This record gives sequence, C-alpha cells and structure tokens, in this order.
Amino acid sequence: MKKLRFVIVLMLVCIHYNFGQTGAYEKETKAEKAARMQWYTDARFGMFIHWGAYSVLDGEYKGKKQKGALGEWIMFNLKIPVKDYKKDVVGNFNPTEFDADTWVKYAHDTGMKYIVMTTKHHDGFALFQSETSDYNIVAQTPFKRDVIKELSDACKKYGLKFGVYYSQAQDWYHPGGFTPKKRWDNQQEGDYDTYFKTIVKGHVTELFSNYGEISLIWWDSARKVQNKELANEIGRELVKLQPNIIVNPRLSPTSQKDFQTFEQVIPGILTEDYNELCLTQNRSWSYKPSDTNWKEPAFLLKTLTHMVSIGGNFLFNVGPKPDGTFPQQAIEALQYIGDWMEVHNEAIYQTKASPFYKLPFGEAALKSENGQHSIYLFVYEWPKDGTLDVLGIKNNIASVSILGQKNTISVTNTANGIRISDLPKKAPHEAVSVIKIQISESLQIDEGYVKPNLDNTIQLTPLNALLTIKPQYDCIPFVAYHNDEPYFANWKNCIPTTKKNTGNKAHWKIEVAKKGRYKVNLRYATKVAGNIITLKNKQRLHVKLPNTNGLTNFQSFELGEIELTKGINTLTLTGGKKNELWDEIQIQSLELIKL
Ligand code: GLC
Repeated sequence: MKKLRFVIVLMLVCIHYNFGQTGAYEKETKAEKAARMQWYTDARFGMFIHWGAYSVLDGEYKGKKQKGALGEWIMFNLKIPVKDYKKDVVGNFNPTEFDADTWVKYAHDTGMKYIVMTTKHHDGFALFQSETSDYNIVAQTPFKRDVIKELSDACKKYGLKFGVYYSQAQDWYHPGGFTPKKRWDNQQEGDYDTYFKTIVKGHVTELFSNYGEISLIWWDSARKVQNKELANEIGRELVKLQPNIIVNPRLSPTSQKDFQTFEQVIPGILTEDYNELCLTQNRSWSYKPSDTNWKEPAFLLKTLTHMVSIGGNFLFNVGPKPDGTFPQQAIEALQYIGDWMEVHNEAIYQTKASPFYKLPFGEAALKSENGQHSIYLFVYEWPKDGTLDVLGIKNNIASVSILGQKNTISVTNTANGIRISDLPKKAPHEAVSVIKIQISESLQIDEGYVKPNLDNTIQLTPLNALLTIKPQYDCIPFVAYHNDEPYFANWKNCIPTTKKNTGNKAHWKIEVAKKGRYKVNLRYATKVAGNIITLKNKQRLHVKLPNTNGLTNFQSFELGEIELTKGINTLTLTGGKKNELWDEIQIQSLELIKL
C-alpha cells in the first residue's frame, strides 16, 4: 500500500514537472542549467533601467496628481485617454542628451555585469524600431532613435550582458492588452489572445532577432496574464531564438522560471537556487523627482553585500530623466558603490552564500577554487578593540588580510573558532570593510544554527534572527533594548495605504538532534488588542494577541505548539494576512519549550 502511494506521488510529481516546466529547457539537467546560469551567478550585480515616455511626467498631468507612487503607472492612475497620452506624453519624449555609452559606462564602472532595460512597459509604448506596431520611439517621437539598438551595442562594447524587460500582460495602448480593473478608452477594446499573438509575439521576435545576443528576458506581470497556456506556448517558441537566454518568473504563473524574483522585498533567507532582488532607489521605478525617498548609498551597498551573502543577485534600478541623463542621486549612489567595488569586487563575483548562519558583526561570502577557499567577511560593525572573533571555523588558516591593504593580519585558533587580532582601530571602509580569510584545506565550519539549551528550551531573539524587510516604506524593524534585553522595534505593517500585510518577517534556523513537539511562548509589547501574528514552519500558528497596555510592557503569551523535525528547521514570524490588524508591536523573543 505504501509503495503504491509512493508510485502515485512520484507520477504526480512527474506530471507536474513536465507540464510545469514550459520553457525550451525542460529537458535540461541541473548541471546544464548551472552552466547556462553561470555568467548570471558569477555577476551577482546588475542594473535595472525603467525609462520611457512616462519619464516625462512627474506624477502630474494637466494639473491632476497621480495617487500611486509609481511614475510608470501614471497613465493608468489618471486614466489618461490613449489619444492624449500619445500626443502629450509620447509626442514630447525627446531625450536629446541620451547617450547609451554613458549609461553603460556607469553600470560598468559600478561593477555591474548586466543591464535589464524596459523595452515596452505597461503603457504599450516601445523603445525600439518595430514593424509590429508603429507605437514606437522611432515612429512617434521627435527623437526617432532606436535606444534598444544603441544600448545593446554599448553593452557589447563594455562586455556587459544585455537583458530586456517587456510587459506582455498589461498593455494600455494596443487593443486587447490587459488593463487592471476597467478599460477607460475604447481604443483598448479588443481580443486578448489576438493581442498576444500579434503584438507580444511580434515585438519579442524583433527583440530576439535584431539586437544580437539577448541574455535575459524580464517578463511582467505573470498574474495579469489572461491565457497562460498561450503565453507558455509563445514563450517556448520565442526562447528558441535566443538559446541561452535566462527567463524571469513572470511570463505566466506556470511558465518556466530560471530564478526567483524579489521585488522591493529584501529577503532574509533564500529557498531556491537562483534569486534576484530588484529594488528602486526611491519608491518609483521610473524618474519621479517629487519622490524624494532616496535610499542612502551605504544602505544600497549593504543590500548588495547582503544579497551576495545569502547567494542571490541584486538588480539595482535607475530611472533616467526625460532628457536622457541619470538623476544626480543615482550618479552619486553608483559612484559610491563603484568606488567600493574597485577595491572589493573579488568578494562579490563568483562567490557563494556565507558558510555561517549569522555573524554578530556582519555577513560573509565564500569562494572556492582548486581546493583553495576564501571567506570574505563583510564587516558592518568594525571592532573598536582591534579583535574579531569568528566562531565556527575549525580550519588552520593560511592567511588573513583586509581587502585594499597590503599587510597580513595575525590570527589564532581558539576553542570554538578563530581570533583575528591587531586590526586597525578605524574601519577601513565606513560601511562595509572586507576581511579575507584564506584556507588551503577542506573546509570545516560549524554554521552556528540556533540550538536547544541544556534545559531543552530554544530562545529565538532579534540577535539570532534573519530579517526580510520591505524598505520602500519607513518601517524597517531594528534592534532596540529595554532593561538590557533586545527587542525588535518598529515591527508593523509596511503598507499603510493598502490593507495588505506583506511586510516584515523574521526567520530563525534551528538545528535539533531529534524530532519533538514544543510549546511556543511569544514575549511582546503593544498598546492595541487584536494584533495578528503568524508563525510558520511546516505548520502555521495564526494567533490574535491581547493588549499588553504599553509598548515597553513586555508579556509572554502562549501561541500554541509546533513540531521540529530532526535537522534544520526554518521558523518564520510575520503579521497577519490581508485586512488583518498589524499595528505596532515590539517583539522580544520566542521561547520554545520541549514537551
Ligand atoms: C511591477 C510594476 C512595474 C515594474 C515592475 C518591476 O510589476 O507594475 O511598474 O516595472 O514591478 O519589478
């Protein structure tokens, strides 16, 4: 009976696999995929560019202000009639200062290895010459130049990979294209499948045929695709034109995906092999000078080293100005990261995720070549006394150095790791200094997952948590102290304008020797009743919390019971679902008590 069940499950898995993998690569082995993905994982760092006719407007049209934060959505937000958008927005797109060479050089000098450029966004307007539709830059604007051609050429010149963003599902111009909610202009009326077979297929065939190698296709937005079978079928045909292309996960909900996308959410942990964070510098993807929520260059640099330390890529977005130049804030951030990359890029390229679960002073990456291992420590908190303990390394150390400095640094083995001493008192870099540890024998590292105490309780605190954050709103949780006890402050829903709760998460990886059931107590403080908290591993606890009557009035509350399996378990704590209350709450700890 068990065997039969196993065979049925196996058959279901196979069926799912065959139908689920709808790309041209469905027969590819893991190793073949790794070879195809090699340049991408080696690169770690790329530039997203959102630029189009919408860049002309700054969140305002004919005296009306756009409600949404995203500049490229203005036509939808203000329901601008097709004819008016074509005349006032597209017709005024004249980026006379545009120089593809300058753009690509910025990316190159920042140490980025690929570019993903918007070729047609939701407004339906194409930035390349096209026989498919005359709604394109060459036919409709005074500028008349094919910027995709110029950019793809410049990428070749500088040795960068060139990728294209293409909005296949939404198109607010071409008849039949998808518009969220209701269409607002008769010209949008039409048959979706016909639109897909003519406009999407025609456009992407042109993109995949006329510009040499296209290294990546960044479809958008899968959930709005109206006919996923058709999208998958056309997608499968199209990738044959670019046999090595890497495909993002947004062609359709069931299409081939070569990597996982994290949009505006900086993940604390990764569960798949290939991953990419895309992030804006302010809130809008496209240029919107009235949006002044610029992220600090040091934060962006740490976002890069963070993604590298968890084994993912960072696609950093720039929204160029309507005249074709980069905004000053982008130039400054790129320069800042570029200066750092010049000295430290060996800690980025060709690296793998950190071998440590969590380091108290920062993060890390690993590079292994011909039996030689380099561990790069990204030190965010430089030790004032010049001594840094790295727990978990059991190896003899060949050498330790600071990237960008000549002298080697003294190191000794300790009972549970290594001690690096005589470091300079001042951090070599104000945000991310890098210490390189070289090891010439096979690695012996204890990752340092959270483990049970001798009394069989497990303490999960902000200090041993990994965080997933959504930085475009002003609510990144941070560690604060109350009576010397750490807690997460500013733990609340990130999206006040909608009722979605897609904000912050804390994760813990716990290693247990035997499977067992645990009682879970949450220690928290809040000044409202009814906050929802969710704790997930294989099971899910979804609990309404009482008021503790004060943001520092910490109390324990029993959430329920969970089971931990032998080995490594991931526990994730977050708020509730859409429309559930997630007001401010301070989280001090989770205590797991073995039953
Ligand atoms: C979303 C937005 C779109 C943006 C994209 C980038 O799909 O609708 O404007 O281009 O995210 O990730």
